[in-house]
Amino acid sequence: MKILAPLRGVTIRCFRRTFSRQIADAGFTEAVTPFISAMNGVDPLRDRELQGLGAAEEALAVTPQFIGKDPAALRFCLKRIKSAGYKTADLNCGCPFPMVRNKGRGSGLLRTPDILEAMVKAGCEEMGEGNFSVKARLGVDSPDELARLMPILNRYPLRFLTVHARTARQMYTGKPDIQTFEEIRAAAKMPVVYNGDYNADAPQTDIPDIMVGRPFVVSLGKLSDSRELLLNYIDQSAAELHGQRPVLGRIKELVSYWQDIPYWKNRWPLVKTSTSLAELTLAIR
Ligand SMILES: Cc1cc2nc3c(=O)[nH]c(=O)nc-3n(C[C@H](O)[C@H](O)[C@H](O)COP(=O)(O)O)c2cc1C
Repeated sequence: MKILAPLRGVTIRCFRRTFSRQIADAGFTEAVTPFISAMNGVDPLRDRELQGLGAAEEALAVTPQFIGKDPAALRFCLKRIKSAGYKTADLNCGCPFPMVRNKGRGSGLLRTPDILEAMVKAGCEEMGEGNFSVKARLGVDSPDELARLMPILNRYPLRFLTVHARTARQMYTGKPDIQTFEEIRAAAKMPVVYNGDYNADAPQTDIPDIMVGRPFVVSLGKLSDSRELLLNYIDQSAAELHGQRPVLGRIKELVSYWQDIPYWKNRWPLVKTSTSLAELTLAIR
């Protein structure tokens, strides 16, 4: 199993559609969406991530991901996505940002085992056995926190557990901790998906199930038609967003991943400082 990682602002629905061919060519069979807040009464189907005709519209299997700490709100959201045809869902237990984790959401759930358990229970009951998954970091401060929670997670029929093999405190720095990842994998009753700087040329682990985000996004910039693909992405983005500013923001975020690639090295400073779509199009000539 090879899953496209959720990267908020990057591996969004418009990205998955524009680059669907490249995503399929790279062997991805599924994508987990960037997180959607699970709030009671706020319909997740109104989120752009899930808007449109629902699950059937995407060529790739899509698993909506939710962030939150209210089991009732999660149930409400899961009922809604089921009504649109989604068969699977994922819980974010990994978001490392202090503003999120200090409120007990994302990786903060690793610090509140009772709430974590209530969320996992709600998810498994609502989606049905083997249809709900969890994505987590190794811990908040210490890499042994998730390992200590495995007895709780093992009580539920999770579809899989994705482990980004870093602590929240590490953010995106340092190397993934493969040893702790393997300890979790050995303790887990559910399949465990590896995530973090996965390098196809030098796999960090022999695990068959992987989730890949940034390395795939970078690889797109190395394609011989990356420029044409980007122009298409600009058009698709302009069609769904209002005004130039959000389009510029979206494209700059993507090209920032390509700034060390020879073709994009000189273009990146021009892309970064573009203030209109006309300027942006000139910059990537
Ligand atoms: C810009 C950005 C946005 C992210 N958004 C999410 C998110 O919405 N949900 C989530 O679970 N992880 C999110 N992540 C974490 C990634 O899914 C992934 O765990 C991390 O980037 C490590 O994998 P990689 O090295 O393959 O990119 C995000 C990471 C980045 C860099």
